[in-house]
Amino acid sequence: MEYYSLLPHNTFGIQAETSDFREFASEEELKCLVDEGVFSSRPFFCIGGGSNLLFTKKRYDWTFLHSAIRTIEVTGENPDWVEVRVGSGVVWDDFVQRCVESGWYGAENLSLIPGEVGAAAVQNIGAYGAEVCDLIDFVETMDACGVKRVYRISDCAYAYRDSIFKRPSMKSVFILYVHFRLCKHPHFKLDYGNVRQELSRYDEVNLARVRQVIVDIRQNKLPDPVRLGNAGSFFKNPVISRAQYDRLCTQFPSMPCYAVDADRVKVPAGWLIEQAGWKGKALGRAAVHDRQALVLVNLGGAEGADIVSLARAVQDAVADRFGIVIEPEVNFI
Ligand code: EPU
Repeated sequence: MEYYSLLPHNTFGIQAETSDFREFASEEELKCLVDEGVFSSRPFFCIGGGSNLLFTKKRYDWTFLHSAIRTIEVTGENPDWVEVRVGSGVVWDDFVQRCVESGWYGAENLSLIPGEVGAAAVQNIGAYGAEVCDLIDFVETMDACGVKRVYRISDCAYAYRDSIFKRPSMKSVFILYVHFRLCKHPHFKLDYGNVRQELSRYDEVNLARVRQVIVDIRQNKLPDPVRLGNAGSFFKNPVISRAQYDRLCTQFPSMPCYAVDADRVKVPAGWLIEQAGWKGKALGRAAVHDRQALVLVNLGGAEGADIVSLARAVQDAVADRFGIVIEPEVNFI
């Protein structure tokens, strides 16, 4: 049997292959795949830009499905807002670029996040104080039986890097389009990290400038997957009780945190990993990035198993030192 390489479909740069790979460029094409019986004959998995997953096997006898719906249409507007229907296969950052060029506010802090629009809605991507769920109006889907459904934002169960679309029961629901609602008036979120400080070097704050500053910050810290395979943040930032945080602070007074609510705080996993001594360290062909400890990298030729071994070693070290369990953000396939 001929196998299809998944190397171009994962930013970790892991060699894996599958027996079947299908693309759909429209709702009708997806319906044809349903009618052909593609989803009733073997296991299937819907893949986006492959920027947030880790192939743990070398060979899959599965159908990998990829959206090539790449349209961006304005569906409504008034003097304050614009509504845009975006195909799930549009590259996320191309959409951000389009927003910035069109004078639509809201997506700029999410500049340069790898991946595609459908996966952005599954994963609830976020950065620099913004989350994609704050921009989404509703999501159009079709399931493996060809049934269409609209998920209003209130149906999507959005939370930190989480949504209803990540539940195992939603495996057979494919995103066709994401509808966004963007503002036509300037309103920036500049209070995260060093964003405001970086902007202060310029006279004027405008959409293009904010995008540029975010791009610069990311390029400084995060490895370019073209040069060094990676999937962005490998772990989620753990949420712990304020009581546990206060106890840890007596031993580790410099431990940073962000408030989640009155009783809980989020601790940067990158800090925990660095303090546990893993920043920049390698295990075989996998390593912890030397500028951002939250990112695991493929030093070249790593297999999924190499990354998994490193991830376990890092999790154990953090648990031993701080008693905190860090969970992967990346999806293991
Ligand atoms: N830190 C360290 N050492 C490190 C990395 C971070 O000490 O090696 C500490 C620093 O004190 C820093 C704090 O951790 O102040 C937070 O770091 P940063 O602002 O870089 O953000 P992060 O919590 O590490 C999260 C997202 C990123 C997103 C940035 C910016 C998660 C899992 N990650 O990282 O998202 O770009 O905030 O908003 O929430 C991604 O999801 O792939 C991703 C890159």
